[in-house]
Amino acid sequence: MDTSPLTELRHCHRTYDRGRIVALNDVSLKIGHGELVSITGPSGCGKSTLLDIMCGLEEPKPGEVFFDGHRIQGRSAWARLRAARIGFVFQTFHLIPSLSVAENIELAMLTQTRTQRARRARVAELLEVLGLGLRAAQFPLELSGGERQRVAIARALANRPGLVIADEPTGSLDSKSSAQIVDLLEGLQRQEGITVVIVTHDPNIAARCDRRINMCDGQIVSDLTTAPLRPEGATP
Ligand SMILES: Nc1ncnc2c1ncn2[C@@H]1O[C@H](COP(=O)(O)OP(=O)(O)O)[C@@H](O)[C@H]1O
Ligand SMILES: [Mg+2]
Repeated sequence: MDTSPLTELRHCHRTYDRGRIVALNDVSLKIGHGELVSITGPSGCGKSTLLDIMCGLEEPKPGEVFFDGHRIQGRSAWARLRAARIGFVFQTFHLIPSLSVAENIELAMLTQTRTQRARRARVAELLEVLGLGLRAAQFPLELSGGERQRVAIARALANRPGLVIADEPTGSLDSKSSAQIVDLLEGLQRQEGITVVIVTHDPNIAARCDRRINMCDGQIVSDLTTAPLRPEGATP
């Protein structure tokens, strides 16, 4: 069994506005393979900054970030890693309005999967799994919020990532669609073994995660694991 963390932050700091805003204050964190983790905390406490640093969209200053045991540095190394191994889901979907549902998903695979045939096969598979089979040719603005978020999840999964990061994925959705999205994210972790990190304001969503991290003022103030992971074959 691989016991090294999938992602690790060591003493990460980040300030804005020439040091006047401390977004992240000496955060160290390890997240293992196959964990389902929630991150909660008041608005402005640094949750999105933490996610951005975890996936290299922001650089810690100072601090170190590791992925699968390797320290990742520099824009191109991060861009390659993100494209191949990290999927993103955002509150406001970030779909491209001029592309169809199928094209939005396929776009994420252009640099990773060479043939159009292989890409289209994967798109079809994802549309089926996410219950979007009838929506392939439609455009994002023709869909409900819940459907748009399912397209975003399909896009996040397109390259079979090891890590899916979701920043308030249900923040723009009604409660029924929110529940569907959380079921989907939980399913990814339980069935596919994908590591899922969800930033959320919703205590019900946090309660469904095995590990719950709470932040305040740029720091982690609690980190609770309720259901320890028991990989197959491990003795309880
Ligand atoms: N690009 C930026 N420029 C200036 N300030 C920023 C920037 N990004 C985040 N901040 C500030 O850093 C703090 C943490 O922000 P953020 O990580 O977005 O918090 P959260 O996601 O928990 O709401 C906030 O005070 C926010 O205003
Ligand atoms: Mg945020």
